[in-house]
Amino acid sequence: MKKIDPQVLVIFGASGDLTKRKLIPSVFALFKGDLLPDNFAVLGIGRTDLSDESFRKQVVTQNDNLDKTDCDPEAIDSFCKMLHYHAMDTAGQDAYAGLKDVLEALSAEHQIDAPNYIFYLSTPPKLYEVIARNLAAHDLNVAEQGWKRLIVEKPFGYDLESGKALNRSLLECFQEDQIYRIDHYLGKETVQNLLVTRFANGIFEPLWNRNYIHHVEITTAEHIGVEGRGGYYDGSGAMRDMIQNHLLQLVALVAMEPPATLDSTAIRNEKLKVFQSLRPHTEEAIHRDIIRGQYMPSRIKGETVNGYREEKGVDPESKTETFVAMKFFVDNWRWAGVPFYMRTGKRLPTRVAEIVIHFKSTPHHLFVHNDQLVNTDNQLVIRIQPNEGMLLKYGIKVPGAGFRVKNVNMDFHYADLTDDYVPDAYERLLLDSMLGDSTLYARGDSTIAAWEFINPVLDAWSNDPTIKLFGYPAGTWGPNHTPELIEGAGLDWRYPCKNLTDDGDYCEL
Ligand code: BG6
Repeated sequence: MKKIDPQVLVIFGASGDLTKRKLIPSVFALFKGDLLPDNFAVLGIGRTDLSDESFRKQVVTQNDNLDKTDCDPEAIDSFCKMLHYHAMDTAGQDAYAGLKDVLEALSAEHQIDAPNYIFYLSTPPKLYEVIARNLAAHDLNVAEQGWKRLIVEKPFGYDLESGKALNRSLLECFQEDQIYRIDHYLGKETVQNLLVTRFANGIFEPLWNRNYIHHVEITTAEHIGVEGRGGYYDGSGAMRDMIQNHLLQLVALVAMEPPATLDSTAIRNEKLKVFQSLRPHTEEAIHRDIIRGQYMPSRIKGETVNGYREEKGVDPESKTETFVAMKFFVDNWRWAGVPFYMRTGKRLPTRVAEIVIHFKSTPHHLFVHNDQLVNTDNQLVIRIQPNEGMLLKYGIKVPGAGFRVKNVNMDFHYADLTDDYVPDAYERLLLDSMLGDSTLYARGDSTIAAWEFINPVLDAWSNDPTIKLFGYPAGTWGPNHTPELIEGAGLDWRYPCKNLTDDGDYCEL
């Protein structure tokens, strides 16, 4: 691995939930793995007045999200010494001169000889522009003696217009190659494995096109509802929260052409071409090919669960979607005519994210059973979470007389790699930003192209009262006509379970 420069990681929004749940635990995991540079410091920034000591308590010693197994108190203590806190009003210009002084003092204390700073914006999105402008006004964007990087969390805007405006303002303050738009799905090991599966194996890529693939299915399902995030979610919905970013990033990785090299520009150029090839939904297609749903009260495992409209922070007459299923096409040479399907939702039967490549049937059916065709269409299931792995479904002969055929599974599970440590998504992405590798971050042009694809749908949903919002009982697979989206007699979605190899008629309780 490339040597990591001495640097300071500055976290805006340090008293927030993400810092406690993901950011500091990830930095701690890098520390345990001996992956941090020798000269390194974290500066947490928030409005609340906190001493370094209380910040360290809050995010380390009293934080159960850190994996402290096998850590002696001295190790935890030396990790704590890297963490500092500075209270300031991030919206006020004047505070930034003070921030600059604090950064200089910290660099001296930790012997960080060049001003190499990462600014992580873990704040409400309305502060992104203000912070970027204030940093720039104090030359904290200048990458001359040391580098400066800006990490931005989604949402990257609320719609096409605001997405463009945000991009413009960030680009007035930082160069594109200084901006790291984080999409934690890209940090998942199994998502990165998509590139390896496709481009390191001679057997898949020749089949990876319209000649052999019948359709592609992508699912990200969550068992939980909106939890405590009703206030945010009600202004967002599944389309903005999941499809605009995570699911479309998965589509890009499944559909992209092989990059010439593994470098960030080459990979992100190929992904952009996929976004640019997404066929926009016409008004008719929005009615026909997209289903939106909202979960309703129900009983799951004997317990009553709230409907979405009863959740805290949600408008009791809300029309926000908690489920989306969509059929769409990638209009290019490789994928002409191949339908893609994606669905995402909260309060579905289980938590699962996976991609299923459905291969075409054999051209002539030799094997019938009781005068019925036996469906042995091959499927490659790429399981992102949980029970991470891959599964190939294919037909074999049932032993005995005649030629009865049945489907069997060939499966690989990441858990079998007992010697390998699978890093958390944030851990991987933070390390990449420290190294200056933006490959697994979203580029500005692709986030805009993603908005271009979904914006007409969002507009139609808010302007056309004839487009229905369907209720579905919490704990089910969405509105009951969702299977009808899938084109082809007898075809349906895969109904995955917690275990990669289980699907179909039953699910774990
Ligand atoms: C976030 C969304 O980006 O992704 C959440 O805002 C969602 O609503 C989460 O729950 C899902 O992430 P994961 O990694 O649990 O699939």
